[in-house]
Order: sequence, then structure tokens, then C-alpha cells
Amino acid sequence: MEKYDVLIIGAGISGLYAAMNIPKSKKVLVVCKDIPWECNTFYAQGGMVTALNEADVPVHVEDTMSAGGYHNNKEAVEILSRTSLETTKDIIDKGMEFDKDDMGNILFTKEAAHSVERIVHAGGDATGRYMHYFMMVQNMHQLQKNTLVYDLLIEDGRCYGVKASVNYEPTTIYANDVIIASGGIGSLYAYNTNSRTVSADIHGICVEKGIELADMEFMQFHPTVFVDTPYARKLLLTEALRGEGAHIVDDEGRRFLFDYSDQGELASRDIVSRGIFDYKRKTGKQAYLDFSMFEEQWFEQRFPNITRTFAAIGYHFPKDRAPISPAFHYSNGGIKCDTHGCIPGMEGLYVIGEAACTGVHGANRLASNSLLEGVVFANRAVEHLLAKGHQQVLTPTFEKDYGNILHKENDKKYKQTLRQVMWDDIGIIRTTKGLHEAKNLIYDMKNKEIGRLLELRLNTASAIVEAALGRVESLGSHYMEPN
Ligand code: SIN
Repeated sequence: MEKYDVLIIGAGISGLYAAMNIPKSKKVLVVCKDIPWECNTFYAQGGMVTALNEADVPVHVEDTMSAGGYHNNKEAVEILSRTSLETTKDIIDKGMEFDKDDMGNILFTKEAAHSVERIVHAGGDATGRYMHYFMMVQNMHQLQKNTLVYDLLIEDGRCYGVKASVNYEPTTIYANDVIIASGGIGSLYAYNTNSRTVSADIHGICVEKGIELADMEFMQFHPTVFVDTPYARKLLLTEALRGEGAHIVDDEGRRFLFDYSDQGELASRDIVSRGIFDYKRKTGKQAYLDFSMFEEQWFEQRFPNITRTFAAIGYHFPKDRAPISPAFHYSNGGIKCDTHGCIPGMEGLYVIGEAACTGVHGANRLASNSLLEGVVFANRAVEHLLAKGHQQVLTPTFEKDYGNILHKENDKKYKQTLRQVMWDDIGIIRTTKGLHEAKNLIYDMKNKEIGRLLELRLNTASAIVEAALGRVESLGSHYMEPN
């Protein structure tokens, strides 16, 4: 029986940075569902937060806690901020090039709810893509694509590996330690900015195995997304645009967000998303991102990716303004773990990155904290894993396999229904009535003839709706409107 020392599920920033930190002497396998760049890291635009120095740590901590509605685990936030001083240096020392000015100084930008400019970026507005490429090159371990995990091999509080479809063949992969780095839940929502591979499968397996998910009511919606495309992944317009001075306006050019917060466009993400959603609903007006204050050449250089992508669909920035809507962006909640990625009551299983819930984001993630979270907590999980050493354990036999029932005939139809109900009833503004309706609909779908993968999505959707019903008062990205 072939067995790995470490199996890493996911090849986004947290999975790859974990792999980078495991010595070559270990037998490591990194797997991803599709091609490696089909992950949220690849689509991250704005940048990665880093504390500027020791003095900035408490300021960054306060910004993170304030955006998170003080629901955050303060210990995790302090670790995030303080460790950024080491991890950012490590990444730069290993050769990652962040954008610099003509004098060779790293450029820092600002996004909503940051009190200072502390976000590093690369390729202008293609930070995730550049970091992903850098980490792919740095990774010395085996990377296997087309590997869709549909079960965790768990017995008596220990994980022994996974069952997966590898190039469409049911396959068992054994490992002494498994690190979940599979990202969030984006594909559950009709409008989302996520890679199509991010579909909550592993969260769904955890629900089935009794592994706790935490803070699942706190789903984050990005305020400025172009949703008028036929593809599942909608086009993000980075917060860095507003950080640099872009405005959100209505049809008449009015900056209506000041009706919702004194900070206008730079209020935290939950407030801006809700403001846009509410204003559009109340007035029937469209909301736009307006770039007309920018000089053309500067804009093209600072936001080359956005300029090119939108030119291809007929928008010429900064002259044209872009119609926008909020869309699902990030799961603040996830698989509950400690600040080393250990899952309570479970041996041999870690979780890092967006899949994890250390409590670092609280009720609403501060912009650009996610790439940082990916590296900081990947590093800590690997440190823990390497320090504990390995005890020989006998691997039990796992008979049950779902490999032949991943999909069933009507799954596509139910999946669309689920995506719409998540958007309508478990979205930006929620009501108790809507949540109950969603809960019943999810329950009904679970009792239909469905495939394994849809079952896993529905498990996660149930966890979100139950968490939302469990929190009566509004907080951060969970907003309850009176019925
Ligand atoms: C963005 O570029 O606006 C997204 C950054 C983030 O999600 O943190």
C-alpha cells in the first residue's frame, strides 16, 4: 500500500506555501481538483496585507477586529499580524517580486477599512496570479491535478487519507497527515467571484463526519463585481480601485454610500455591499464604479489586468464607468481549528486557508487579509506537523466508496436551484422567513435522488442556514432584516 507522509488537498496559496515549508525528504503529495491555477488565489487582485513594522501590529490588529465586528479570536489576529513580519520577508527573500517604485521601494496600497497603506501587490492588480506562479515554481513536491476528493478516511478520531476521483477513476490515497487547503464555498452562490472549483465538498464531508464548522453565518460579499457575464465566476473590481480613489455612484453620479456610512466607499466591505444592495433595491437605480478621476496612462499601468479584461468586453477604463453589484466573495467561517490548523478531537488532519476557521476574520474579513492568512497559518500547521513526529499506526480498511455515484441525472437542475436560494435567502440581507424557506428547500433536495457531490454541497448549505438561523441579531456580514 502506497502511503504519503503528507497529503495536501488544494493548490492555492495555503496549500502551496505549506508544501514549500515541508522538507524534500518527506513524501508529500499536493492534489487539486482541476488544473492548479483554478483556485481563488489565482484570481486575487488587490494584494496581501503585511504589518509594516512592530508599531503597525496593534494598528493592523485593531483594523482587523473592527472590520470583524470584534467577533474575532484576538489571539489569532495577533498571530496573523505579528507573523506577517516574518512570512512576507521569507517570501521576498525567496524571490517573490512585489511592485516597487522607481527607487526600488516596495509600493503599499490601501483598501477599505485599513487605517494605513499596508497592502503589497504584484503585477499591478494581479497579486494572486503572481504569488501563485511564484509558489508553483518554489514547490519541490509532487503535484497531481484532476483529483477530486469525495471522502476523508476517518476512524476513531484519526484521519488516514482520502478517497478521490483521479482522472475519473476512484482511488484511495493514504497519508500519515492530511492538510485541508481546499478553499471556501463560492459555487454555492448564484453570483460569486470564486473559481469554479471552490464548491464546499470538504466542508460537506466534515458535516457528515461530525467535524464542526464555525462562523458559517458570516459569508462575505464583495461590493464591486461586474455580474453581467454568462460565466459562473463574476468579474471582480478590486477594492484597491477605491483605495486609490475610485467612487461608487448612481445613474446621476451621486455618491450615495455616504447615506450609509461617514466613510462612504471606504467603509468596511459588509457596510458597502449592503449599502449598494439596499440602494439598488429601494430606488431601482444602477450603481457604478467611476474611475473618471484617474489619468489614463497611470490607470493602465496600475490596473493592467482589469483594463485588458474589460476592454475585451467593450469597456474602456478609466473613461467608462462599470455597472456593479455585490457578489459572494469569501467564507469567513469554515472548518473549526486552533491556531496551528489542528481540528479538535481529530488526529492527522489539519485545515488552513479559507477552508479553516481560526476565528481570525470574525464576522467580516478585513480586505486583503486572506492571502496573508493563507501563508501564516500554513506555516504554523507545518511547524506543528513536523514537530510532533510520526507514530506508526495501522491503517484500517475503508470499504465504502462513492466513486460511482458522484453525479446523478437531475443534479444540475438542483444545483441551480440551490445557487439561487442561497443568493435570495441566505445572501446579503436575510429574514427569518427566508431562512426557514431555504432550510426546507435544502432539506427537500437532500431527500431526492442526488449524487455524492451535490449531497456534500447541500450539507454545507445546511450548516450555513442553521448558523444563520442561530444568530438572531445582525453582526458583520450576517444581516437580519425584520420580516
Ligand atoms: C480585492 O482585491 O478587492 C479583493 C481583496 C480581498 O478579497 O481581500
